[in-house]
Amino acid sequence: MSEENTISKDNNSTIVFRGLEDVVAAETDISFVDGENSQIYYKGYNIHDISEHTVSYAEIVYLLLNGELPTKQELKVFRRKMISEMRVPTQVIKMMEIMPPSIHPMHMLRTAVSALASFDPDANDNSIEASKRKGLRLIAQIPTLVASFYRIRNNKNILSPDPKNNMASNILYMFHGDIPDEKFVRAMDLLLLLHADHGLNASTFAARVTASTRSDIHSAVTSAIGTLKGPLHGGANERVMRMLNEIIDMDKRENIKKIEEYDEVEEYIDTLLAQGHRVMGFGHRVFKKEDPRARHLRKLSEELCAMFGNKKLYNISHRLENIVMKKKGIYPNVDFYSAIVQHALGIPKEFYPAIFACSRISGWVAHILEQYNDNRLIRPTSKYIGLYNREFLPIEKRRKA
Ligand code: COA
Repeated sequence: MSEENTISKDNNSTIVFRGLEDVVAAETDISFVDGENSQIYYKGYNIHDISEHTVSYAEIVYLLLNGELPTKQELKVFRRKMISEMRVPTQVIKMMEIMPPSIHPMHMLRTAVSALASFDPDANDNSIEASKRKGLRLIAQIPTLVASFYRIRNNKNILSPDPKNNMASNILYMFHGDIPDEKFVRAMDLLLLLHADHGLNASTFAARVTASTRSDIHSAVTSAIGTLKGPLHGGANERVMRMLNEIIDMDKRENIKKIEEYDEVEEYIDTLLAQGHRVMGFGHRVFKKEDPRARHLRKLSEELCAMFGNKKLYNISHRLENIVMKKKGIYPNVDFYSAIVQHALGIPKEFYPAIFACSRISGWVAHILEQYNDNRLIRPTSKYIGLYNREFLPIEKRRKA
């Protein structure tokens, strides 16, 4: 075959942005991830102010969907509405009950959200107004799906949300079956509001790609869940805890006083890096310095570990942070300390990515609605690097290469 046939001249000059790095693919006013200055803004509000002053996660959901912070009265009405939408159709619960209990919660979530589409009262209406109603229902129902699956797996009865309590409190209640302490509710609230949105991250992009075909909101959210599930995205937090458990298992000594004495952490990281693996919960496509969410979760994980008398877990993670910084010059991202916070809240590690989804659903819905409101089909091109004009042989003349 001639060289002319193997390479297209037009294609030669095409620049490929692998991983779409630095490509601006949409305009948004929902959130801004300022990688240069390590800041995140939701609708113009700095994440640090939000973490400090927010009353509850519902306030942030309201902000993302309406563009403004709610008044006391607006929040009360909105929260009541959101909690009232948490009920999941019994058919979907039955479907979860027949799923193998060993499947990963993100498999369940992807399938159950897709199934919810069929039972939604607005199933056949994809107008903006109906999509808003369906979006709010999904924000409310996803936590119910996740907690119910946990209860089903553990042969426990499924619990209904308590309309008097907020989302954070209800998530903990529907998991564990008792009224959670205020401190844990606040911790869950912080976890939810810090994960709510993050610019054009991979799962949000996936949601917008699906929405850009004018597909329905349940389809867009199903795409997003499948994308969040991956270990380079929302699946990282679960692997962080696996790593920390492996390090803890290496060390049987008691009474270590200084974090520098945790030698096994360095040994573990050296082996991991030598094998060419990544350290889960570290590095970020946009933040090359501190992830501002990690700052809040680090502090919270320290408080929770102290409260539970599990200083060792915090010390090991702190030591790990120092070692990865020294060896790779990279910082922890949101998933590193979120794993420790979730562990302290009694969430089993395979549910961490699903808890992430319980919060990120609010950002996905805001982005899907934004995409519907000013839509252009998202359809990039690729640089073709294959062959041209190959001689087509009839099947009887083909020989195995
Ligand atoms: N562990 C070890 N090295 C890492 C790393 C990690 N977690 N993250 C990045 N690096 C290194 C890369 O090996 C590369 O080093 P090199 O230049 O010597 O080859 C350098 O940092 C740049 O990495 P790159 O792959 O270009 O960054 P990216 O923008 O594509 O990756 C992530 C971003 C998030 C995919 C990546 O940091 C990662 O895999 N992290 C672990 C998974 C994780 O925590 N995901 C949650 C993200 S919020």
